[in-house]
Amino acid sequence: MKIVLVLTLALCLAVTCHGKATPTPTAPPSSLEERVNQLKDILNGLSRQVMLQQFFLEERTRSDGNSGLKNTRLTRDGTKNFYEPSIIDISYLAMHDHANFDRTIGMGELNPVMNGVEFRTRHNDYKLRMPSTTSGDFHATEDIPYPDVPPSVSSKPTVEDQIQEMREYFRAFKDQNTKHRDYRPFFKPVLCYLEAAWTLSTKKLDEPFQSDRHFIDAESWFDLMDKVRFTSYTGSKSVLENYAYMPTTIYNVSDGIPQYAQWNYRILCHPLADDLPTKYLKREEDLMYRLPNRKTIPQMVRSRAERFRLNSKEFDHFDRGMSILDDLMYQIPGKDNYQADLHDSSYGMVMEDVRYNNHTLVNSGYYHRYFKILRKGAMGTKSIHRGFSDANLFVAQTSQERIAPMSTKSCERVRHQSVCEHWTTRYSYALPLEIIYMTPLLSWNPYNIRYDATQKELTDNGRRNGGSTVDKAYNGTNFRFFYHTPVEFYGSGKVESDPADTAKVGAGVLDQDGQVRMMTSSGVRIRTPDIVGVGSVRTRYPIMPVHGEGAPVWKELNALKEMTMNMKRYASLYEEWPGVVENVTSSGLPGLHQFELSLTQLDPPGEHTHYFYLNSVELEELKRGINKKVTTSQELAHSHDLMLEYRANKVRIVKCDKSPNCWDGHSQYPTEV
Ligand SMILES: *[C@@H]1O[C@H](CO)[C@@H](O)[C@H](O)[C@H]1NC(C)=O
Ligand SMILES: *[C@@H]1O[C@H](CO)[C@@H](O)[C@H](O)[C@H]1NC(C)=O
Ligand SMILES: *[C@@H]1O[C@H](CO)[C@@H](O)[C@H](O)[C@H]1NC(C)=O
Ligand SMILES: *[C@@H]1O[C@H](CO)[C@@H](O)[C@H](O)[C@H]1NC(C)=O
Repeated sequence: MKIVLVLTLALCLAVTCHGKATPTPTAPPSSLEERVNQLKDILNGLSRQVMLQQFFLEERTRSDGNSGLKNTRLTRDGTKNFYEPSIIDISYLAMHDHANFDRTIGMGELNPVMNGVEFRTRHNDYKLRMPSTTSGDFHATEDIPYPDVPPSVSSKPTVEDQIQEMREYFRAFKDQNTKHRDYRPFFKPVLCYLEAAWTLSTKKLDEPFQSDRHFIDAESWFDLMDKVRFTSYTGSKSVLENYAYMPTTIYNVSDGIPQYAQWNYRILCHPLADDLPTKYLKREEDLMYRLPNRKTIPQMVRSRAERFRLNSKEFDHFDRGMSILDDLMYQIPGKDNYQADLHDSSYGMVMEDVRYNNHTLVNSGYYHRYFKILRKGAMGTKSIHRGFSDANLFVAQTSQERIAPMSTKSCERVRHQSVCEHWTTRYSYALPLEIIYMTPLLSWNPYNIRYDATQKELTDNGRRNGGSTVDKAYNGTNFRFFYHTPVEFYGSGKVESDPADTAKVGAGVLDQDGQVRMMTSSGVRIRTPDIVGVGSVRTRYPIMPVHGEGAPVWKELNALKEMTMNMKRYASLYEEWPGVVENVTSSGLPGLHQFELSLTQLDPPGEHTHYFYLNSVELEELKRGINKKVTTSQELAHSHDLMLEYRANKVRIVKCDKSPNCWDGHSQYPTEV
């Protein structure tokens, strides 16, 4: 009895007991009732403690890095640790092709972290599907429409002519040359993303999203956890990669009874509103791949191990929620689908869109990571990043009842009375995975081959295997025998392949007149095979961020990598100058030029000037017409973001912050000092 009381007290201290949790000492309870109440208290306390354990775990993971990819499956090792694959094996994100499926995107198992929750996916192989445009129902989705065949292709009388014209469209897309052919209406970018949330269905296992090739091999979430625990305990694996590790949690305790939530994820895609030039996709440097594989930078172009980062500018710079990635993610709705129209007002905040100065509110039903708030009395409003230090925390609010809610209250003293407000909200999280350019090959069927054949008809009960003769060719096609592209379109040549790739190089298919046509698969590929006269064209660009890159060590490492890979450009930053010492400039540093803005007397802010630096390489580039963005030194509590150009032998400020001229009167011509 004594022990129980002490335990209750201890738990109460740990979890702040109040209200119901404290037994009322007044009414003398029967001893049985007293016992029941004590047990209830213990249950309440223990359940809350278990709930908090998951939270503590998340908090630690949150501060370890950003939302992003942590690891993929290890398949081999070596004599140095970078011979062991971690985020990249033979491809980034375990990407591969299933081009013989009409809308399947090959992607293996991943181990991501999202908002501090670490999980493992099954073998993904997701489909080109998007949230419903017409329904707000939970997880209602629809197929993404394919781009049309360019009329200048379909209007050609012969298949041969169509092939020639189609190749020109691929050439134009590859060169991003809209004058050669305006490819933009026919090569449509989609942004595929990983979305996850705490859901309330814990008994039945919900398949997170459609795949033609994989499913979670378990009856319930607890069955799945048991299977995953077995594979972890024994170090074994589901050979078909059909297990996922998805944590469960207690999200609330009501009267001593824990309420459970289940982490679940899915992969969907969103057709982007506008064209996305491929030059915005900047290659990331992964020496952990290039060194053990001895790949030069030019060789990486043909590799599946390349990963990218979005940057619409030609230079690196600071950002506060106005990057192209913010624009693109904000096109994607959360669990309310495209009709989402929500505004989070927790703690009485009014969240505004950081991109505009006209008090546009953030539609919190769409994925975003920044907002700004209007504060009384404060002139400017600052961009606020969501979360504490997670650079990739894209969140969207939802009204779906199946997402675990979270409640809070805040009390204010109004005329000696405590006035409390309560808020309950539900959120989901998203991470960009990849940009896929859909091509007209998805809808081009120049031989007009039948597309709805059943497996039985198509293979004639297994007698037809896609051979080149009338009795071996497939009779028609369907979504998993998606052979609509004549082999002549490519000519010859093979692409780097992966054991998970399923498409055949060429298959015999009967057209509607019973004639054999040699066809290749038309589904999405990382890179097309070589197209005669054009070469191979990349259509998938993985952009998923890496968890570890949010940690200070990896930031230092990337800075060091940038400096060592570009020694000349950053020579001025070295302690001992590397290589050939350039002429010392006015700044007293090799290859570093110091500029000063003109003195201004405007008050406020008061007499001052600013400095900024360009290194010789940057100055050379400026002279060649590549404009630069720099941030000046801080004086009198402000700095300026400058856009520079080189005109008439002078460095000139084209844009100061967001206007043509600096608001405090510096001239457009800085001087080198
Ligand atoms: C958690 O449980 C308490 C007690 O029953 C309840 O008042 C609260 O609304 C619940 N919170 C959520 C988010 O369901
Ligand atoms: C705010 O500015 C943006 C961009 O100029 C514009 O698209 C939007 O309609 C404006 N909103 C309001 C409420 O004026
Ligand atoms: C191919 O399938 C169609 C439709 O089922 C059928 O009419 C035709 O006879 C088949 N062709 C051959 C050669 O079996
Ligand atoms: C360095 O200075 C010398 C002498 O003034 C000059 O001839 C040379 O071109 C300069 N080199 C560079 C890289 O500016």
